[in-house]
Amino acid sequence: MRRKGMFRKVTSAFAALAFSAAVFAGPAFAADDPIVIKFSHVVAENTPKGQMANKFKDMIKERLDGKVKVEVFPNSQLFGDNKVLEAMLLGDVQLAAPSLSKFERYTKSLQIYDLPFLFKDMAAVERFQQSADGQKLLHATSDRGLIGLGYLHNGLKQLSASEPLRVPQDAAGKKFRIMSSDVLAAQFQAVDAVPLKKPFSEVFTLLQTKAIDGQENTWSNIYSKKFFEVQPYITESNHGVLDYMVVTSKEFWLGLPVDIRNEVKATLDEAIKFGNDVADQKAKADRQRIIDSGRSEVIELTDAERSQWVEVMKPVWKEFEEDIGPDLIDAAYNSNM
Ligand code: LMR
Repeated sequence: MRRKGMFRKVTSAFAALAFSAAVFAGPAFAADDPIVIKFSHVVAENTPKGQMANKFKDMIKERLDGKVKVEVFPNSQLFGDNKVLEAMLLGDVQLAAPSLSKFERYTKSLQIYDLPFLFKDMAAVERFQQSADGQKLLHATSDRGLIGLGYLHNGLKQLSASEPLRVPQDAAGKKFRIMSSDVLAAQFQAVDAVPLKKPFSEVFTLLQTKAIDGQENTWSNIYSKKFFEVQPYITESNHGVLDYMVVTSKEFWLGLPVDIRNEVKATLDEAIKFGNDVADQKAKADRQRIIDSGRSEVIELTDAERSQWVEVMKPVWKEFEEDIGPDLIDAAYNSNM
């Protein structure tokens, strides 16, 4: 009797799940219409993320034409990164790849990626992301309805400014745009600068009108959004990483027919590999393009200068250690070896 009761409970739970999936699926899953995947992002098309998104769209067309259709919306056309995750939970967009700094409202664990000077290069970032700890972090937002499908690289961040920044004191009192991350706020406060959380779409105008003095970003973002045209100095600090979590809503993902879901995931994995190669090339090529433009001076730090930045910024790790977990920080740090 008891077993029967349990069985009933389980079957009704499945029925409820199936019902909610069916309700959620709505017209997008109707037999003859293709399933539409709207992929919204904030960067230009000639960036690692922009190219990965377009590649994904093309590959899905080749492999699942008529069944799945990908629509890509670059340059914050559809949603800015500060809105896209809410929109995803409402079913208005199905795929995005916000930077890891933009998940703070959903999980504290991903803050690890914002700790300054944690990774010495992108190879260390890759090692950590592919480790068991790194892969586990892709599930950090699952209980909030968002599933991480993979990491995508952009690269290491540089500091751009209206005046040369060689040592931490040079940044004191200056206003820097940051992504919406408390770790990044603490990183700039550590050098007595003033951090301002602003959407990516506003950065160029803020710099051009001198409402802010500087910002931190990767070579491909500084190049593709023309920040170098309005920032005469870029310090090659490599002080942090700007990578992405490719994310979808749990409801959408689990509502997909299994065969389609598997094919979409395999295609996405390939598109991510392609995007990572683009990231690697662009980190070098866009840096060189900026130098060649003559619009911005690239400042290379001496070892002694760099150590000063490390010394002032590294105490930020302690501040966030409890939220992130000391073991996880150790694991990430050890990926440098
Ligand atoms: C930023 O806001 O600076 C970046 O997250 C933009 C991006 O998506 O690369």
